[in-house]
Amino acid sequence: MARLLHGEGANVMVTDILEDEGHALADEHENMIFMAHDVLQEDQWVAAIGATKEAYGGLHVLVNNAGIAHNATPLEETSLEQWRKVVGIDLDAVFLGCKHGVGLMKDSGGSIINISSIYGIVGSAGQAPYHAAKGGVRLLTKALAVELAQLGYGIRVNSVHPGFVGTDMVRDGLRQAVEAGLMPGENEAIEMLTMQTPIGRLGVPRDIANAVLFLASEESAWMTGAELVVDGGFTAQ
Ligand SMILES: NC(=O)c1ccc[n+]([C@@H]2O[C@H](COP(=O)([O-])OP(=O)(O)OC[C@H]3O[C@@H](n4cnc5c(N)ncnc54)[C@H](O)[C@@H]3O)[C@@H](O)[C@H]2O)c1
Repeated sequence: MARLLHGEGANVMVTDILEDEGHALADEHENMIFMAHDVLQEDQWVAAIGATKEAYGGLHVLVNNAGIAHNATPLEETSLEQWRKVVGIDLDAVFLGCKHGVGLMKDSGGSIINISSIYGIVGSAGQAPYHAAKGGVRLLTKALAVELAQLGYGIRVNSVHPGFVGTDMVRDGLRQAVEAGLMPGENEAIEMLTMQTPIGRLGVPRDIANAVLFLASEESAWMTGAELVVDGGFTAQ
């Protein structure tokens, strides 16, 4: 997402807890800055938004993308601590991002893009905290879209709902499922996810980044509170 938006001319502030990877990415590009940032820490949101204002003078697009998966566990065996960890990063942090992003974005107007999931629309076994958080992101997005439109800030808010994309999150999840004996092997697991995806392949990050670019652009000027599903047909079934 950072590379694509940068390629389209955006000045980009990348934040993550992965400092080495973040610095390596930013070092490859002019007008791309990396800042270490734990999305659960409100003071670090204040610092990141402040640094963006200082570096670039404003904020026009905010993508709330950080997220973690939940190791497949039945609800009865899920601890409150596990629940809070997933809901904290996958939902509370999106609230913090929206809250502090709006503070700067209302000077100019802009577009907030919250990364939810197909799992924010449909359910599956063993993933209740993740579904609850991603479903929460879907309606947080709609509520804020209406509120900001009424306030006349010129800020649109939309959610993106990716299907199965071959990132670290999916690979780590499958590895854990194989180790726990829930799946025969990683290749078989990938094949299973692919078979559940009508288009016949897993998504790649660029598939999701293209949707983000569209929602960031004026081409989506009349869209707010929308949920853009990018899932190779998974939820069409
Ligand atoms: N991969 C998929 O199939 C898929 C499907 C639907 C939705 N999503 C969502 O897409 C988003 C990106 O996921 P991904 O697949 O690229 O996974 P990923 O694990 O590759 O990337 C997630 C990123 O979030 C960062 N992160 C985690 N906790 C953080 C914290 N406390 N503060 C700051 N950064 C933190 C990680 O360091 C990592 O860089 C997530 O919100 C995820 O839920 C992914």
